[in-house]
Amino acid sequence: MKQSSPRSLFATRLGVIATTVGSAVGLGNIWRFPYEAGVHGGGAFLILYIAFILILGVPVLCAEFALGRSTHRGIFGAFSSIRPNSRWRWGGIIGVVASLMILSFYSVVAGWTMEYFIVSVKGGLSGLSDAELHASFSSFLVGWRPVGWTIVFLLINYFVTARGVQKGVERISNILTPMLFVLIIAFCINSLLLPGASEGLAFLFHPDFSKITPSVVIGAMGQAFFSLSLGIGVMLTYASYFTDRTPIVRSAMITASLDTLIALLSGILIFPAVFTYGVSPAEGPTLVFEVLPSIFNRLPGGMIWSALFFFMLFLASLTSTMSMSECVVTYFVEEKGMKRKSATALTIAVAVVFGILCALSFSSLSDLTLPFIGSFNIFNFFDYTSSNILLPVGGILISVFVGRIMSRSLLTKQLSSRPSGAPSFAARVIPFILSWVAPVLITIIFLVNL
Ligand code: PFF
Repeated sequence: MKQSSPRSLFATRLGVIATTVGSAVGLGNIWRFPYEAGVHGGGAFLILYIAFILILGVPVLCAEFALGRSTHRGIFGAFSSIRPNSRWRWGGIIGVVASLMILSFYSVVAGWTMEYFIVSVKGGLSGLSDAELHASFSSFLVGWRPVGWTIVFLLINYFVTARGVQKGVERISNILTPMLFVLIIAFCINSLLLPGASEGLAFLFHPDFSKITPSVVIGAMGQAFFSLSLGIGVMLTYASYFTDRTPIVRSAMITASLDTLIALLSGILIFPAVFTYGVSPAEGPTLVFEVLPSIFNRLPGGMIWSALFFFMLFLASLTSTMSMSECVVTYFVEEKGMKRKSATALTIAVAVVFGILCALSFSSLSDLTLPFIGSFNIFNFFDYTSSNILLPVGGILISVFVGRIMSRSLLTKQLSSRPSGAPSFAARVIPFILSWVAPVLITIIFLVNL
């Protein structure tokens, strides 16, 4: 059953930026970027990541915006309103499945931020040595608390998402993003004063090109898609709430710049501390949670900073997970005719089941590995498959669809900021990137990686 829901469009331009930045900025910048850069050799990864943001990220973001704003539908509906009953609908299904997978493992990490917030408020980390901090995180991971926090986080997500886009995300993001920015800059200054600062900065900013392997390239591409929430129709769904006056290219550039800046600042915050406190940069998903408490513990009033930081990280995770749930909920509401509340409940229920499996990947299910391009536990399998495979595959589909199937005059009109006259530079270059560069480049990267 198909039903076009009446949409309340975003109230202000600031609201548009706040919401798309709210989706983009989250654990992907502060947790995932440093651990991926750490695993993949630092500087070389950073250069590739920024290149992918520019060459693929901004154009695909424009494509999602153009498709969402012109159809006013979610990803499934957007494909089928331009090509009814075609195989393109499967592209929509990939988006919905990938959103659910990301929502599941992401909520586990968001749960870790909630634990650290509560522990910081209680002063539980103060006075602990680095070894004790490390041990306390490891013992937290093997208990039941991560499962409990995953469920609590998803329930909060349910209540916010069930209320609808505008009331929830727009308000939180308007306040959160500027605050997060100020706080990270303050912590960066502190990190730059640490004895390991120059080693940390060299790791992040001096590329060693011999470290570039196919897995580094695919990791950097996956991180670019993940960080910009691209390839699965999340940004497309948000753009379905844009008004005709929302400038597409400019909004995409602002979102991508702020998002990349926050990732860079997170690197500047983390790596000096990694080298100062003797942690391995290639530690993996637990890296940030082992390093940040050591930083906070040495600051005057450390537990207050720690509580504030983890609370903001929790909010940033919430605004990102709301965008994933929105993508799935829109599918159930528009295509299956469900009520918003039931659609949200179904989405969250599935995420709770998967989320529990992901949370247990660090304890009772740690020996359960899924043989797929290496051996991964369930958490890493969800993370790797969605970010490095489903998001780029979705990126190819969206690029080809918008670049070749959507009418060119409609696309040019969407991309142009001026209603009449010659198309802008972006409106001439972006369709070429979408039709040729993005699909060919992503396919080559996949083939080389295989
Ligand atoms: N971009 C978000 C972050 O960096 O935390 C994560 C994310 C949100 C990924 C939405 C994918 C997505 F569809």
